[in-house]
Amino acid sequence: MTTLSTLNKFKKEGTKFTCLTCYDSMFARMMEKAEIDTILIGDSLGMVVQGHDSTLPVTVNDMAYHTANIARSNKHALILADLPFMSYVTLPEAVANSRTLMQAGAHVVKIEGGSELCELVTTLAQAGTPTCVHLGLTPQSVNVFGGYKIQGRGDEAADKLLADAKAVVDAGAALLVLECVPGALAKAVTEAVAVPVIGIGAGADTDGQVLVMHDMLGMAHGRVPRFIHDFLTDERNSAHSIEGAFALYQQSVREGSFPTEQHQFS
Ligand code: KIV
Repeated sequence: MTTLSTLNKFKKEGTKFTCLTCYDSMFARMMEKAEIDTILIGDSLGMVVQGHDSTLPVTVNDMAYHTANIARSNKHALILADLPFMSYVTLPEAVANSRTLMQAGAHVVKIEGGSELCELVTTLAQAGTPTCVHLGLTPQSVNVFGGYKIQGRGDEAADKLLADAKAVVDAGAALLVLECVPGALAKAVTEAVAVPVIGIGAGADTDGQVLVMHDMLGMAHGRVPRFIHDFLTDERNSAHSIEGAFALYQQSVREGSFPTEQHQFS
């Protein structure tokens, strides 16, 4: 069973670890077999499960339902669940909604933002709820960014992201996710903080990697971002199976053969 202590140990010894999004029981069982280290019940389910154009319509009840599906079916992975859009604007709301996700089976709640989250991170930590803070391209803010764009480019933006990362870790964040930021910035953040950092489109130097499950099974629709690799049709997946794709992802991240230069932004 993977815990936060396991991930902290991985960071100290330089062992790379995996995370995949997952939303239902059958895939959660396959991920257990492949020994995927952590599972994220991402609010990306708004797009890949519910057919919306963004994560914004996802509700706390949706998240709790899918979190419970995973918690019943996978006893190996550390389970992270997203607090969805506008469900953590006030402290009382954030605490109540975190309780719902933790009681559904999450081990960690994930929230998007920067240093403005510090008070919430500390409150939740004191209440026994570890947080994972998602920085960089935070999809809940797509309307602020004006699209899904690389973040942290240029000195000012990079300095702000690094300062935000340090602030939330000082406030008590247990994990960070960095999405779509230049590889050099992700490396600097990973080296600057004591907690494990999980990257997506953030290069090879973060402590762990996360992908949306449907994307790494070749089911991304529309333009395929450069950080995605299709592990289902990869020739090393000799069984051509979904379980084989999960196992190949686990092996590739652990041994450092994924991601490569071609998957990262500068
Ligand atoms: O919701 C999600 O799937 C995520 C990942 C892309 C990190 O936040």
